[in-house]
Amino acid sequence: MTRPSAAQTSESDASLAPRQWLPHSWQQHPIVQVPEYADRARLEAVLHWLSAQPALVSIEQIDQLRADLAKVARGQALLLQGGDCAESFAHHAQAAVAASHQTLLDMAHTLGTHKPVVRVARIAGQYAKPRSSSTERIGDVELPSFRGDIINGADFTAEQRAPDPQRMLHAYSQSADTLEWLRALDADNTPTYTSHEALLLPYEAALTRQADDGRWYAGSGHMLWIGDRTRQIDGAHLEYCRGLANPLGVKCGPTMSADELLRILDILDPHHQPGRVTLIVRMNAARVAQQLPTLLRAVQNSRHPVIWSCDPMHGNTISAGSRKTRPYDAIAAEIQQFIAVQSNLGGTVGGLHLEMTGLDVTECIGGPQNLGTDDLGQNYQTLCDPRLNGEQARALAQLTANALNASNAPNNPWQTEQAARACA
Ligand code: PEP
Ligand code: CO
Repeated sequence: MTRPSAAQTSESDASLAPRQWLPHSWQQHPIVQVPEYADRARLEAVLHWLSAQPALVSIEQIDQLRADLAKVARGQALLLQGGDCAESFAHHAQAAVAASHQTLLDMAHTLGTHKPVVRVARIAGQYAKPRSSSTERIGDVELPSFRGDIINGADFTAEQRAPDPQRMLHAYSQSADTLEWLRALDADNTPTYTSHEALLLPYEAALTRQADDGRWYAGSGHMLWIGDRTRQIDGAHLEYCRGLANPLGVKCGPTMSADELLRILDILDPHHQPGRVTLIVRMNAARVAQQLPTLLRAVQNSRHPVIWSCDPMHGNTISAGSRKTRPYDAIAAEIQQFIAVQSNLGGTVGGLHLEMTGLDVTECIGGPQNLGTDDLGQNYQTLCDPRLNGEQARALAQLTANALNASNAPNNPWQTEQAARACA
């Protein structure tokens, strides 16, 4: 593998790498949600150091995930993607990683009654957050919003809220530690892949590496996604992601039109590769039945072999006093609506995308423990959006498996085989 500073795309690479793309070509495009760093010299020094470090994930494992996701796109497997909304520097602990890993294993076991499961965690890189407002006001004081530990600090002080490039070094080394823990936990021979939002492009570009065959890979995680706020057609984030060989996600919120979605797919998936793009639909429980059919039909006609994944979290956030929360019932309803639409229109449910932890947090209301808004204060830890706790996440996996198994049992050879085994 060569590094971006040294690499040039040669004539012979042109058929493999997209034309006129380099890890830094996004700099020629309008960008949103990425901070200006006051100390340019420090920023350059940090990026220079990162560009000389080993990639965090290997090309072989990224290619393995590509093959696994091609199976998902063909309807032979399910994608289970989950983890923190925002990973924290302060609460980084092996026990917490192990608890989330175990919860994903339990959920994969449950969903495995429907189809084999590909596990992709939101972990080892999920540190940068898009925000709806660039500043936050408390009383008379207005400061830049918190944008995730890789960018600035959550405490409401001018010092903490200033973007600090040095934080990228902490994120890189914490990601390396987390990956090492995950590898030790993956005792069952199926990997837990890593994923995060491709938001902080200077960091991503510094960790982009070229394989011997000319393809470019983001070295920061196996799968990257483009958020609902950074999916502008001519924007920097689409430009950066289109050149990567990594599998890509695209968040599809309620403002996504069919036309926009098709243009995005033509940019990210010009060769119609199965599983290259995962569409992560995050509408809300009521809207998904109204809006998903239009998107689904348009994509079916376009013949882009995407994965349809359901994110039932981001459209169902409400406030409870000063805190954000999400009702378990709304999350469950969005999953059920998503499955119903796919089943009615001949689509395939490819996956589930959850904000969750294995810890016993009290961030989402309802669910098996019937948490109320009065319980939120007991153990509310998230740096950003409210996560499901381990018990809530396992219950949703069961609900999803039941709904999927009820929706298309006759067409699923895996399920028939599992049922035969259970009866034998
Ligand atoms: C997220 O996944 O944490 C997120 C910010 O999602 P979205 O881009 O869909 O709002
Ligand atoms: Co979130």
